[in-house]
Amino acid sequence: MALYLRKQQLPSAPLSCCFILLAATATCAAAGEVGGPNAHATVAIPAANHYSPLSQITAENVSTLRAAWQFETGPGGLQTTPLFMDGVLYVATPDQRVIALDAAAGTRKWEYVPLEVNLQPVRGLTIWQTGDERVLFTSHGTKLTALDPANGQPINRFGNGGSIDIRENLGASPESIGAWLTSPGVIYRDVIIIGFRTGESRPAAPGAVRAYDVRTGELRWRFDFIPAAGAPGSETWPTPALATAGGANNWAGMTLDAARGIVFVPTGSAVDDFYGGDRTGANLFANSLVALDAASGRYLWHFQTVHHDIWDRDLPTAPVLLSVLRDGERIDAVAQGTKQGLVFLFERATGAPLFPIEERAVPPSDVPGEMAWPTQPFPTAPAPAARQWLTADDLTVRTPAAAAAVRAQFESLISAGPYTPLSIGKQTIVFPGFDGGMEWGGAAADPDQGVLYVNTNDVPWTGGLQAYDPATASSFAEQIYMTNCASCHGPDRAGSPPAFPSLVGIFNRRSEHDVINSIARGQGRMPGFPQLPAPLVDMLVNYLASADSAQREPGTVVAAPTASVQPPQYQFTGYRKFVDPDGYPAVTPPWGTLNAIDMNTGDYLWKIPLGEYPALVAQGQPDTGSENYGGPILTAGGVLFIGATVYDRQLRAFDPNTGALLWQADLPYAGTATPLTYMAQGRQYVVIATSGQRDPAGPQGSAYVAFALTKQSAGRTLP
Ligand code: HEC
Repeated sequence: MALYLRKQQLPSAPLSCCFILLAATATCAAAGEVGGPNAHATVAIPAANHYSPLSQITAENVSTLRAAWQFETGPGGLQTTPLFMDGVLYVATPDQRVIALDAAAGTRKWEYVPLEVNLQPVRGLTIWQTGDERVLFTSHGTKLTALDPANGQPINRFGNGGSIDIRENLGASPESIGAWLTSPGVIYRDVIIIGFRTGESRPAAPGAVRAYDVRTGELRWRFDFIPAAGAPGSETWPTPALATAGGANNWAGMTLDAARGIVFVPTGSAVDDFYGGDRTGANLFANSLVALDAASGRYLWHFQTVHHDIWDRDLPTAPVLLSVLRDGERIDAVAQGTKQGLVFLFERATGAPLFPIEERAVPPSDVPGEMAWPTQPFPTAPAPAARQWLTADDLTVRTPAAAAAVRAQFESLISAGPYTPLSIGKQTIVFPGFDGGMEWGGAAADPDQGVLYVNTNDVPWTGGLQAYDPATASSFAEQIYMTNCASCHGPDRAGSPPAFPSLVGIFNRRSEHDVINSIARGQGRMPGFPQLPAPLVDMLVNYLASADSAQREPGTVVAAPTASVQPPQYQFTGYRKFVDPDGYPAVTPPWGTLNAIDMNTGDYLWKIPLGEYPALVAQGQPDTGSENYGGPILTAGGVLFIGATVYDRQLRAFDPNTGALLWQADLPYAGTATPLTYMAQGRQYVVIATSGQRDPAGPQGSAYVAFALTKQSAGRTLP
């Protein structure tokens, strides 16, 4: 039997919490713990579907949608999908404050200002409700905090005065690791289930998913993604590595099938991201979709999407629940998108693949000690949503100069298809790039039709390795830098601006206090390094302050590196986008796409470029598609909404049947977040978080922006 409600079965009004919430980042378990048809109904539309049964806005009237209000939230990045309940929107700010807004007026009701914060994203909040009892969960710094949604006050009986420190209960001393909650947890009955983000270099926290009592914060269960010696999965690691391994964590959010009591948890790669010589083996349960019993954390099944990952191919998004028709039978399925641009479809209860998955041979590694896995899994359908193998035919022809420069650079690169290991001394094409393919915004699904709507990036990046012998370091500080910072800011500190800033001359731009704060807490896609003790941070700051570290005498190692900061033997040379001399992607467009995939058949219904670059439009080159982050939402009114594009700052509405553009509106900053739709005072609103962080050349700031039909056009469609 299908778990999903037919549209006509939905109550018309008032809509309860979960009927309105629809983003992956906004979950609710209002009636999940009580029986009866309503309880079933409430959990029948899983939040990660990005699907809303609201239908006041339709394909016919969406063109009359107008800006309703805008709420400014200050400088920084914003990736939050708001959470809606009973006329109130709960949102986060770039500095991790929580604000309750009147959903119709966009005015502040209360604000919670946490004491401990960092500048990492808060992709959403979670609310738990039973009877009159409600708890709103937010994350800031290393804390998960329970608030009273009525007034924003911490609920003292939860954890320690309202918060728990998510670095605790991970089997390592909390001070020695970083752990932050960037995606909100999911609620099942009376627990909140969370993953976490950790560092990309050693020592990183070992990945685990944990369930806490929503009232007290007491730990109810934990599942470790890096198995204990002897436990299932441990045979895929060298035994010594198990004790010190980190990563394989869930940072992208997870998806609950409440009716079955299954939580689907996607995991990331093991640390170090790019060299795995000390972790030979498939490395379970890294890069896996893991199905757990939501009540107990008991293992049910898993599928590993990348064996022995040495490309940082984390599973980037919570999977989507939908049902598909097979031989006339409706099957409840879970669809997982990847950074590689692939979609895997499984039967929910058993994990049986619904399209055959082939293990295909991939190239070996030529790096000493590295044992790249000989095969990787590819679904036979649907086809990849982004290009997989860059050839000379795909190189840009945007201008003769760009074409010539890119062709010349291409000659020096290795391009040998998906899962080609990085090499020493030469850059290797990673296509789609390190950010995906699919990213944290995730996909929307039509629960009745089995159609998946997903945006992807379609641009190449490059990466490489270099040998690093700590004994040759000119200083211990350099070793700390090489271990922790070089992968993003480059061995030469020049970074790969604008995405990864240069640290050369950093103190001309930033105070020492700022730099120390960045190191401790991280910001944006930079994880924090709270595990670095103060004396090491001091050394690092001195190292960055030295005008040219290369002038230092080599061989003057000031202190022996401790085990915890031992750098890998082969260092990543930094994330580089493969771009032409003007900064545009080195491939032919489209550079970003929006796709409708019929998961019944695996066929694409349509595929269109998503977004454009205003400067290229001005030169007569529209519709190139754009780098994009944040996912789509689908409504029962027959409208697909998506922002996501970085440079043109648009919110768009598409016809889900054809991909035709129905409407678009200017945003103050890029809408690089997944939107939300809700009903307030009789009108359907669409709200999206916008921010300028990803486009340093564009306007800087952040704001929530809401759109609604004009009173007249809303009135015409109301019964
Ligand atoms: C995983 C990638 C990554 C790693 C590892 C990393 N950073 Fe960063 N760092 C970034 C990014 C991305 C930014 C820009 C963040 C933003 O846009 O807010 C940044 C910003 C900074 C800034 C502020 C730069 C400015 O111009 O304001 C400093 C300082 C900094 N990093 C220092 C470090 C140090 C020191 C380390 C090592 C301890 C480190 N970073 C490790 C990615 C990284």
